[in-house]
Amino acid sequence: MQEYTYIMLLERPVIAINLKTYSESLGENAIEIAKAIEQIQTDQTPKYNPIIAPQAVDIRLLAKQTKINIFAQHAEAFDYGRNTGYNIVKSMKDAGAKGLIINHSEHKIELNKIEDVITAAKKEKMYVICCADTINQARAVACFEPDFVAIEPPELIGTDTSIAKEDPDLIKKIVKKIRFIQYNARILIGAGIKTRNDVDICVKNGANGVLLASGVVKAKNISAVLFELFG
Ligand code: G3P
Repeated sequence: MQEYTYIMLLERPVIAINLKTYSESLGENAIEIAKAIEQIQTDQTPKYNPIIAPQAVDIRLLAKQTKINIFAQHAEAFDYGRNTGYNIVKSMKDAGAKGLIINHSEHKIELNKIEDVITAAKKEKMYVICCADTINQARAVACFEPDFVAIEPPELIGTDTSIAKEDPDLIKKIVKKIRFIQYNARILIGAGIKTRNDVDICVKNGANGVLLASGVVKAKNISAVLFELFG
C-alpha cells in the first residue's frame, strides 16, 4: 500500500467514509473496514483516494494498523491544557489523524469557530473537510479555504436518496455556485450516497468526491460494498 502524501490526497477525487458513532464501525470493526480498503486498492494510482473518519477513541489504533488517511470527526482549536473532555486538533494529529471533518450537521459549530479550527489545522498541516447543510452555508465556509467543502442536505442523510440519484444537474449548480465564491474549492457531495455509480455521477458533474457513512457501515456485506466503491 502506498504512503499517501498531502499532494496525492488533493490531486484525485476522494471517497470519505464517516464512521460516525455506529457500533458496526467501532474499534476492531473500523480496522476491518480500513484493511479491506487497503486490500482492494493495490493500484498505485487509484481512481478514488480513501479517507476514513473513525471515532476519536479509535484514531491511534487505526493509525498504527493502516496507511489510509484518517480524519477526526471533529476537533477544537484549543491548545494543549485545561480543556477537560474536548478533543483538540493537536491531539488528533498526535494520534495519527491527517485531517478533520468539521461542522457536520450532526455536530454544528459557529462560523467564527470554523475559521479558528481551519487555522489551527493548517498550522498542524492537517486537511479539513468543512461540511455545510445548504449552498449558502457552503459558500460562507468556502471563504475560509478548507481543503474540501462537503455539502450534505440533512434530510437525505441516512436515506437511500441522494442528489446524485435524484438531481445530478443540481451538483453542477452547487459546484458552480461555490466556485463563484472560491474558484478552486474542492467540493464533496454527501447524504444518501451508496454506490460507485453515485460517486461517479458526483465527480462527472464537477465534484471532487463524496462523503458517505451508512452505505458502507450499515451494509449487510461491507466488503462487497467497499469492493464496488474502490475496486
Ligand atoms: O458524513 C456523511 C453523512 O452524513 C452522510 O451519511 O449515511 O447518508 O451516507 P449517509
